[in-house]
Amino acid sequence: MTAFTHHVFVCGNQRSPDHRRGCCDPQGSDQLRNELKAAAKKRGLTPDVRVNKAGCLEQCEHGPVIVVYPQGVWYGGVTVEDVPRIVDETLVNGRVLEDLVIADECLNNPHCPHIAGDDQ
Ligand code: FES
Repeated sequence: MTAFTHHVFVCGNQRSPDHRRGCCDPQGSDQLRNELKAAAKKRGLTPDVRVNKAGCLEQCEHGPVIVVYPQGVWYGGVTVEDVPRIVDETLVNGRVLEDLVIADECLNNPHCPHIAGDDQ
């Protein structure tokens, strides 16, 4: 088996409903990951494309969050309705879906204005 062409990490972190940062999968359903896996398989991209559940990716305020490698593209606010175009555009055609990209000023920025409070 050769190396994966793409690796998609899908935050599946759950937190209590009152957590100030929220979380990407409050129901613990893994629905987004499962839909991405199924769509990649249906498109014939597996096993070269791997879709994995991840713990918190530290972009909680922008969830649900995924990151696609090797491009290193971070998407936020991802819904199951976005799955077909993520597969067709990003995984197959290598295009970035700008409407889903987490803004540079927010990504990995502890001072992102979307983060409430100052404790992590
Ligand atoms: S809970 Fe998903 S990035 Fe933190």
